[in-house]
Amino acid sequence: MTHRTIPSQVDTIFEFDYTVQAEDMRSLYEKAKRDQWNASSDIPWDTPEPSDGRTLADELVDIHGSPLWDRLSERDQVELNRRVTAWRLSVLLYGEQGAMLACSQLVNIVAGADEKFFQATQVMDEARHNEVLERYLQHRLGGLHYPMPENERLLFDAILGDSRWYIKTIALQLVAETFAVALFKMMSECARDPLLGHVCQRILQDESRHMGFGMLSLPAVIEGATAAEREEMEDFTCAALEKVVTGFFPIDAYRDLGFSPAQIAEAQAYRRDVAARNDYAVFRKYFKRDMHTSMVNNLARIGLLTERVRPRLAALGIRLPAPA
Ligand SMILES: [Fe+2]
Ligand SMILES: [Fe+2]
Repeated sequence: MTHRTIPSQVDTIFEFDYTVQAEDMRSLYEKAKRDQWNASSDIPWDTPEPSDGRTLADELVDIHGSPLWDRLSERDQVELNRRVTAWRLSVLLYGEQGAMLACSQLVNIVAGADEKFFQATQVMDEARHNEVLERYLQHRLGGLHYPMPENERLLFDAILGDSRWYIKTIALQLVAETFAVALFKMMSECARDPLLGHVCQRILQDESRHMGFGMLSLPAVIEGATAAEREEMEDFTCAALEKVVTGFFPIDAYRDLGFSPAQIAEAQAYRRDVAARNDYAVFRKYFKRDMHTSMVNNLARIGLLTERVRPRLAALGIRLPAPA
């Protein structure tokens, strides 16, 4: 399948007032113009590949440290390492495409020239992220792609099918991008291939601006919402969070390496076990801490860390500060 059609209907606001109305938003737009980069000329594509072929630290492979891992030959460990990276990058690649599409809708839906101009820059940024990840997959991993996971497809169907800008922004710029930033940070720190580190660093430069759009635009709409509207926003936030933190296991990568269904079940059980013991490798602990802290801080800043939301975050294993 080379594409997928998602039904959606959005209202397009044609803006006639082009004066600066929201200075913070306009300066975010200025930063976006200043910090554009080019995936063709700003990425050192000729960086030599690591001699052992590993793209990320082995610790990021779910079964690292298990008897299953120890039984693999060195060759298979490297192969699994590369396939798990291809799987992770495929998930991120689809996320970049989804972000580009959602932002192109936002250009239409949002009112205000400052907001429209900024969203136009995010469309370009996400196109570049889509491009650079695809080029990395082609350049280093033989163009290996894995299909879009079900949870990710459901999340983007919900984002792209909804007609309201703030619902898209909550799910994209707040939830999905907070998650993606933590993932890119972890990958850039654990990259064995310096080229992958460069790619992640460049993407990260853009992502904080994108989250900035949510931080600037959401507080007013949340404050002015009716009780029913606020509950809907809370529910949508929790549903999006549930999608991004659960159900991401690169089962296809294991299958491709010849793991039997019993071995895959063993791998999943090992992962569950490690999670239950809270005994994650340093990186993952770092990722969780990073992602959970920024998620909780951002929700609090925009006014969505409510009494209804707190227990649902706790159920997802997200640690919360005591209520003020
Ligand atoms: Fe992106
Ligand atoms: Fe982004």
